[in-house]
Amino acid sequence: MLEKIDLLIKEIEGLKAGSAADAENLRIKYLSKKGLVSVLFDEFKNVPPQDKKAVGMALNQLKNMAQDTIQKLKDQFEQAGFDTGKTDLTLPGTSAPIGGRHPLSVVRNQIADIFGRLGFTIAEGPEIEDDWHVFSALNFPPEHPARDMQDTFFIHKNPDILLRTHTSSVQVRVMENQQPPIRAIFPGRVFRNEAISARAHCIFHQVEGLYIDTDVSFADLLQTLLYFAKEMFGQDTRIRLRPSYFPFTEPSAEMDISCTLCGGSGCNMCKHTGWVEILGCGMVDPNVLDNCNIDSKKYTGFAFGMGIERITLLKYQINDIRLFFENDVRFLEQFKSAQ
Ligand code: DAH
Repeated sequence: MLEKIDLLIKEIEGLKAGSAADAENLRIKYLSKKGLVSVLFDEFKNVPPQDKKAVGMALNQLKNMAQDTIQKLKDQFEQAGFDTGKTDLTLPGTSAPIGGRHPLSVVRNQIADIFGRLGFTIAEGPEIEDDWHVFSALNFPPEHPARDMQDTFFIHKNPDILLRTHTSSVQVRVMENQQPPIRAIFPGRVFRNEAISARAHCIFHQVEGLYIDTDVSFADLLQTLLYFAKEMFGQDTRIRLRPSYFPFTEPSAEMDISCTLCGGSGCNMCKHTGWVEILGCGMVDPNVLDNCNIDSKKYTGFAFGMGIERITLLKYQINDIRLFFENDVRFLEQFKSAQ
């Protein structure tokens, strides 16, 4: 028995392992329940009583050295932090995926760029507004339906504090704080109490434009918007203005562009009219100028407002506004190249 123990000690002293898996196999071979060391412990019961003391000590010594040795073999791989048997250090690392801008940001930046070339600067205003900046200063009569709970989200049911329903409120803030000439656009998020569908959402984005100076005319408005339409949708784009009504502009108009899908010959997208509406506009009503302490005898100006979602839908021929808010990367990734 003592000889067997001696032999095993020598054998174990000479052990080597090339990987953590090798070391684990050695542990199983020597130390598991049916391992070579354990088997000797089983045989211990057959040792004659007078030898038990010496054999017992030798067995314990064997077991301890076997445990130590095999643990050391294992440690060398754990300390290195990798298993040389499995890890291919020449493999390239995993790269972090590169994000892209949201299509609405892409288009907002394009709009800002186009008007920037015409000298328009950018201003912003608060999303939580008061009645004055969203409605009253903009010449909305007290009974105007837009003030209704059905269109407007009020904060704590307070009729004076609300989420802005359009970015026209920023016109008022800018005019209150600055004398003409004013030439700026106001991008931002707006809120309306509307049922969500493929065409409408209760949160969306607008860009408002404002130009106030001496002798600003409707012709200036027309040329500015024509330039915008051609830059945004292509040089072949045509525009038309239809008379309309907004409380804060007089005269008011809605602007259509020739259909971005069929070019004007008629298709499903333009409902076979050849035209699609993209914005509202007009000459700033003198009442609005006076409300904002700008002399309406001296100054005139134009304003316009457009929905960024609508422009983006038309530009990229997307048919459901909800896609902008779902954050499905399969949709968003398609705009990576449109930075
Ligand atoms: N505020 C209008 C809306 O949300 C859009 C608009 C129309 C803005 C005409 C204007 C304008 O500045 O002149 O529907």
